[in-house]
Amino acid sequence: MKKRITLAFTGASGAPYGLRLLQCLLDADCEVFVILSKAARVVIGMETKLKLPAGTGAAEQALRDWVQTDRGNLVVCGLEQWTAPVASGSGAPAAMVVCPCSTGTLSAIACGASDNLIERAADVAIKEGRKLILVPREAPFSPLHLENMLKLSRLGVTIMPAAPGFYHQPETVQDLVDFIVARLLDHLGVEQTLVKRWGE
Ligand SMILES: Cc1cc2nc3c(=O)[nH]c(=O)nc-3n(C[C@H](O)[C@H](O)[C@H](O)COP(=O)(O)O)c2cc1C
Repeated sequence: MKKRITLAFTGASGAPYGLRLLQCLLDADCEVFVILSKAARVVIGMETKLKLPAGTGAAEQALRDWVQTDRGNLVVCGLEQWTAPVASGSGAPAAMVVCPCSTGTLSAIACGASDNLIERAADVAIKEGRKLILVPREAPFSPLHLENMLKLSRLGVTIMPAAPGFYHQPETVQDLVDFIVARLLDHLGVEQTLVKRWGE
């Protein structure tokens, strides 16, 4: 059985992290349910050369072309597709990642807003005790952001800030991106060879 993972993109800076994670998950033969916020589509267009078309089917094809792998199973869900498997405790994957995670979506998840499919899927992950990883990016973090992160962390949510280390002596931007993606894959239990583990 393929490992099933929900991957949500929101409008924080850091689209390359999410896209690289998607590529690695598909390469590892996972089934990935992708959800994109409206702001995510804008930021992806500004931070990469990927121009995502409006519909879910067309976006699916564009993402497939971008990641350049035929492996795995990719399903793009609409932001208001309440009938998607990820919206229900009985159908949701075992793990969800919001990468990158805006402070807006962080706040909505922390208060259980469930006002779009990203927020609902995260709410389902929390209520079902499934793995939920958020990759927030902002600088500086305000007390509000920090309180929301602490609240979620105490509920068992993993807060994995988009803050790569430098001890592996990165030479390219891709090395920095891979540092975070490798940690995400570790936490998802997906084999990774992007970055050597400390001590290897
Ligand atoms: C180029 C660009 C970069 C942004 N970077 C960030 C960021 O790093 N962190 C953040 O929280 N919001 C950032 N924003 C603002 C969010 O996109 C905005 O708050 C949006 O409402 C988030 O909506 P969403 O959570 O539904 O994606 C950025 C917006 C743009 C256009």
